[in-house]
Amino acid sequence: MSQQWGFETRQIHVGGDPDPATGARAVPIYQTTSFEFRDAAHAQNLFALAEIGNIYTRIMNPTQGAVEARLSSLEGGVTTAVGLPGALVVSSGQAAELLAILTITEAGDHVVASPSLYGGTYNLFHHTLPKMGIEVTFVNDPHDLEEWRSAIRPNTKVFFGEVLANPRNDIFDIEGVSKVAHDNGIPLIVDNTVPTPYGIRPIEWGADIVVHSLTKFIGGHGTSIGGAIIDGGTFDFGASGRFANMTEPDPSYHGLAYWPALGPGSYIIKARVQLLRDLGMAVAPLNSFLFLQGLETLSLRMERHWSNAHKVAEYLAGRDDVEQVAYAGLPSSPWHERAKKYFGGKGFGSVLAFDIAGGREAGQRFVEALQLHSHVANIGDVRSLVIHPASTTHSQLTEEEQISTGVRPGLVRLSVGLEAIEDILADLELGFAAAKG
Ligand SMILES: Cc1ncc(COP(=O)(O)O)c(C=O)c1O
Repeated sequence: MSQQWGFETRQIHVGGDPDPATGARAVPIYQTTSFEFRDAAHAQNLFALAEIGNIYTRIMNPTQGAVEARLSSLEGGVTTAVGLPGALVVSSGQAAELLAILTITEAGDHVVASPSLYGGTYNLFHHTLPKMGIEVTFVNDPHDLEEWRSAIRPNTKVFFGEVLANPRNDIFDIEGVSKVAHDNGIPLIVDNTVPTPYGIRPIEWGADIVVHSLTKFIGGHGTSIGGAIIDGGTFDFGASGRFANMTEPDPSYHGLAYWPALGPGSYIIKARVQLLRDLGMAVAPLNSFLFLQGLETLSLRMERHWSNAHKVAEYLAGRDDVEQVAYAGLPSSPWHERAKKYFGGKGFGSVLAFDIAGGREAGQRFVEALQLHSHVANIGDVRSLVIHPASTTHSQLTEEEQISTGVRPGLVRLSVGLEAIEDILADLELGFAAAKG
């Protein structure tokens, strides 16, 4: 690696600047494990954070850095004291959720979460975090602020929710929940995978930290697994008094007390230099490149996803063999007004769900009959996708847990793609014909 390849981190991190050697805006794929030091002093300075630069791809890589700069810019992330963007890209959405929590919690700590979550996140919180000594309380009704307030304990470190949760399509009360959190010295982390920053920038509404599965709309093409954390730099870990692991010296990093030494943005630096260093869920450089490609067309794709989804929802709502449609764009949805407020009239999302008459068997027959829709456990692909959650994504949950996450036996989930709307509707007709048996 040499200077002419844009080795200097900052050149790459500004994201979108032309490559000085070629004038091209494309970011190279740094398919390398490690980066050559100029001399011994350079090596020493990089390890001491006295100078910022790439050392080893488990912790940082310029292709990943370009994604981080762009995500931080899109979400309104902080610029850190060391000049790095306020974002961290990792190997999956699940890894991002775990790292986001572990950066500020340890055994003996407590998290309060909405139950309206992706099944994998629910499992992480319900089963795996407790095994690590971190207790999680799920509020019953995430829209009741009193429940959040009364769940707080002296060791509570995080409030967590999904901005637009599927399959229920409920919209998280970011403003209300963040106020309860902040009144009690607790940061709010939200998962913004489904709306993406096209739909909403949660930090502007009171969230402190945003997580993403890049696997979905940001990658967009169903090719790569990845995740991200964005730090708004809005939460004062010093003033809170709850975060000794931010304010006390870290013996594993030269005795650094992240706060106040690094101030706003110290959260995301700690996530990288302490937790990513130790846990190692690094993103592959090629996947970072594919996420950059996805980001280039994000707004264009989201516009079409959301407008197609609206037409699909109206079509479903008009059918006798559909018992219920979960989609915040319908005036009958309890989340309609909140969605209009947060999404500013751009739309209401594109991962919707409906209950088909005939229950579980009808749902499974429907899914099998579709030809245009891909039958996969994913969302946010350019192609239209379909799944029957009760027998797949949510099958590891008990029946009670399924109901609490909005999954009834006849529920079918659609991730509406970019195809011509006439083709999507024609395919759904095939499903309804088959569901009748
Ligand atoms: C809202 C949400 N968050 C997080 C995840 C986990 O992401 P990944 O599959 O990239 O680990 C998913 C995956 O479906 C998701 O839908």
